[in-house]
Amino acid sequence: MPKLTPLITQTEIAHQVQRLGEEITAFYAGEPLVAICVLKGASLFFADLVRTIKSPVEIDFIQLSSYGAGTESTGQIIFKKDVDIDLQGKNILIVEDIIDSGITMNFLLQYFKDKGAKSVNAAAFVDKSERREIEVDCKFVGIKLSKGFIVGYGLDYAEQYRCLDNICTLQL
Ligand code: IMP
Ligand code: MG
Repeated sequence: MPKLTPLITQTEIAHQVQRLGEEITAFYAGEPLVAICVLKGASLFFADLVRTIKSPVEIDFIQLSSYGAGTESTGQIIFKKDVDIDLQGKNILIVEDIIDSGITMNFLLQYFKDKGAKSVNAAAFVDKSERREIEVDCKFVGIKLSKGFIVGYGLDYAEQYRCLDNICTLQL
């Protein structure tokens, strides 16, 4: 049986989201932005975060896949859904659940820069360093973690555990 161990409480999550919202609000200083949710993992974080940003925010969604049912990235990115909004000249904030190898976020930062955005920045709820392969410039980070596989608050293992309201480490 997989073992779940609580790591980050619902209260701590709410506190970090609020802090990030304040940082992002200060950074954009009233300028409009497009927040892009990286499905599915970032969905819960995204819904909480966009409501804390005090700037006009448009939302859009993207879905990629670099994982199969395992816990390690395959390194290959597959597009499942692209954004609908025209991003030309807009401020883009990519919202991710977690940065692990860095491959996904690195790809997305470049992808949106190539779409002619005015600015492209990234927010991730968790920045996990142990398996980093590419340096990533993520401006807004909720929690830093050195290692471990975590689930809950949108994060899954083989599509399970996304709807936990806290974050737990998973041991298989
Ligand atoms: P990266 O391209 O290796 O940085 O992978 C990023 C994606 O891998 C995230 O958006 C997650 O979907 C997934 N991922 C990485 N680490 C974990 C974890 O500890 N738990 C759940 N998903 C993870
Ligand atoms: Mg993800």
